[in-house]
Amino acid sequence: MPHLEISDLITVTDPLSGARLPVRRGDVVRRLDEAGDPRAARIVAALPAGPDDVLDPLAVDRLMIGVHTELQRLSEELRVGERLVDVLDPLFEAIREIAGRRGRFRLVDIGSGLGYLVRWLASTGALGPNVELIGVDLDAALVAEADRLARAEGLDCRFVHGNAFDLPEVATVYVSTGVLHHFRGPALAEFFEAQADSQALAFCHFDIAATRLAPVGAWMFHRARMRHPLGRHDGVASARRAHSDETLLRAATVPGIRPLLYEPRGLSNPFCTTLRPVLGIRPYLEDPLRQALGRASRRLVGAEQLTRGGPPGHDAAAWSATAGTGAAR
Ligand SMILES: C[S@@+](CC[C@H](N)C(=O)[O-])C[C@H]1O[C@@H](n2cnc3c(N)ncnc32)[C@H](O)[C@@H]1O
Repeated sequence: MPHLEISDLITVTDPLSGARLPVRRGDVVRRLDEAGDPRAARIVAALPAGPDDVLDPLAVDRLMIGVHTELQRLSEELRVGERLVDVLDPLFEAIREIAGRRGRFRLVDIGSGLGYLVRWLASTGALGPNVELIGVDLDAALVAEADRLARAEGLDCRFVHGNAFDLPEVATVYVSTGVLHHFRGPALAEFFEAQADSQALAFCHFDIAATRLAPVGAWMFHRARMRHPLGRHDGVASARRAHSDETLLRAATVPGIRPLLYEPRGLSNPFCTTLRPVLGIRPYLEDPLRQALGRASRRLVGAEQLTRGGPPGHDAAAWSATAGTGAAR
């Protein structure tokens, strides 16, 4: 049975026009029932809808903003900003090295939600003054709220309504947090391809580490920290849908990109690792990045390191298949 997230089903955007499409409550309830998730179906059945059974868009927007506000608190507790900067700071150091320490750079957060990461980076100045900060999201209500918060906080960053598969903003580095598991099948590789085909020098996407503990950990955290049943439901569904290291590395193996995993399963403590990134960098950035990472560069591995013996607990056959797809160009 597929694990579905309610938030993916109750907000639907036309990928071409970006317009919000009407969603019938009964259709979503049926899909969730068919997927064998009666609890999720009950959550949706309780949402307000008009006489035509179309979900009330304003109520859905309020709900999504509420759930994302709770998600922001979780991100604060998990110190998501600091974790990203552990990798992004050396990455920008490597980029500055290549660029001769000149120029302005741009970080674009894809699927930025309420913009916690971009706002945190803007408020801490963690990446230095010459990195412009932009968030992009498909959900117009979240973009508007992220922008409102940034203005209220007096932050130097902006938010744009747009689709990850038709990127509205060029970037030096694309990042995301908690977004990869929403893209299934060929869409995952298409997501990386869109960035590889752009002028970007790198991408760095953080998502839930697909450990056996992830669904239990997600249940405990979301139970303790989130009040709305939708947030609790989707938090656990996300952990169940997290992509394996093999899937991520295979999907990030796209032309022009050197795919790397930071702290893959076998190298990390499953009790401490909740989020970890898959990176794609232009091949000439690898040496400067490893130098900038110092000792931590041991945590950065490509497919070939994992096939050669591999970390404990890895699936050698899957890694071999991944490595055989031809990594960097
Ligand atoms: C789980 S939320 C994560 C939000 C935020 N990054 C965070 O960590 O709090 C996933 C986000 O991805 C956005 N999203 C999903 N598909 C997208 C797409 N094709 N393009 C842009 N954003 C997308 C959703 O609207 C949602 O805000």
